[in-house]
Amino acid sequence: MRVVDLIVRKRNGEVLQQEEIETLITAYVEGQIPDYQMAALCMAIYFQGMNTEEVANLTMAMAKSGEFIDLSDIEGIKVDKHSTGGVADTTTLILGPLVAAAGVPVAKMSGRGLGHTGGTIDKLESIPGFKTSLSRADFIKQVNQIKLAVVGQSGNLVPADKKIYSLRDVTGTVPSIPLIASSIMSKKIAAGANKIVLDVKLGSGAFMKNKEDAFALARTMVNIGEEVGRETVAFVTNMDEPLGTFIGNALEVKEAILTLQGKSRGPLRELCLNLGAYMLSLANQVKEIEEGKATLEKLLDSGAALERFAEMVAAQGGNPEIIRDLTLLPQAKYQWDYHMPQDGYIHSINAETLGIAAMTLGAGRENKDSSIDLAVGIKVHARKGERRQKGQPLLTFFYNEQEKFEAAKKMIPQVMQISATPPKTLPLIYGIVTKEGCLDLNCSF
Ligand code: URA
Repeated sequence: MRVVDLIVRKRNGEVLQQEEIETLITAYVEGQIPDYQMAALCMAIYFQGMNTEEVANLTMAMAKSGEFIDLSDIEGIKVDKHSTGGVADTTTLILGPLVAAAGVPVAKMSGRGLGHTGGTIDKLESIPGFKTSLSRADFIKQVNQIKLAVVGQSGNLVPADKKIYSLRDVTGTVPSIPLIASSIMSKKIAAGANKIVLDVKLGSGAFMKNKEDAFALARTMVNIGEEVGRETVAFVTNMDEPLGTFIGNALEVKEAILTLQGKSRGPLRELCLNLGAYMLSLANQVKEIEEGKATLEKLLDSGAALERFAEMVAAQGGNPEIIRDLTLLPQAKYQWDYHMPQDGYIHSINAETLGIAAMTLGAGRENKDSSIDLAVGIKVHARKGERRQKGQPLLTFFYNEQEKFEAAKKMIPQVMQISATPPKTLPLIYGIVTKEGCLDLNCSF
């Protein structure tokens, strides 16, 4: 088998066979195929796509490139959750304890932020003392004891994805449905969960900028789950504006705690209740989705989910007092408010630009080796469609370095548009794709 022949065949729109895909992935991970050939293949896949069987074969070949985590020592059905990446999306920190409090084990391996999107592991590291790395035995023991542990991905989980993703990042081949689907599903499969709930983001702050592509990605991942015996449900949700109100690591932990305290009731809470209800349903904990939502609302409002969060923090070496005293989280030295320049409606809020502005303040990494400032970030005081008077605060910047603040401030004109008439608002959840098809909310499929 010559690699160039496979590249040419894919470039011409032909189907690659299972053993060809397996050989390619193994040889690439072992360093026998140069980056330029893999990059050419990714570009061919970007333009020609892959059929369902090819994507499933690529996913399994990637998953098998590293270790498989065995969660069979954890009692119960393990349901994992994954988002394709968003801004002010701190759902894992709320959903984990919430679903655990309902009795479903959450054994979660999360990633770090890259580019304008945040990562759960960075957020958790803003909790004083919190350990994001546990031995396999301690991880399993903790989940059996309190039904919840969140750690960073093990070094040898899907090495093929690590190599291919860095290559895609610099060759313009990230937004490809088969490549994103295989990248995400290979990690979910190797991480050992029995069932999977996905949150496919759609909008300015997401990889998927149009509805057709977002639903196609959702369907592709649900099909892969079916092919490999891991039932998968995929939500398609709005990422045109940030999900929560805070962007930045410690600030997002604060928002997760406020939500777990029942004090924050916006779309972030709403999405957690919906994703969580499906997790409960997949774990056979409830028969109806509405029953799942009602169960989770009670656990939020009673403080049970907040207590579970504190238990996880304590079990992983962190200070559980943060649930009572938010000032124990890293605090930025300075704050600055940007006010509404005129009366009007918030016409649009660009999630991606806000994510980049927060990153510019120091909340994110420019490359995987950059360090981050856990305290800095942005609070967004209004949502799309809301009316505000001139002079009311719109954004608060939390910062430590003047130079970074000046650079981030320059982005404000691209962050929001204000209009005299109300804009068309967008739904939080566009639709939910299951193995039965698309449960329509605002879905045209
Ligand atoms: N998230 C991933 O893990 N992989 C992708 O390709 C895109 C988003």
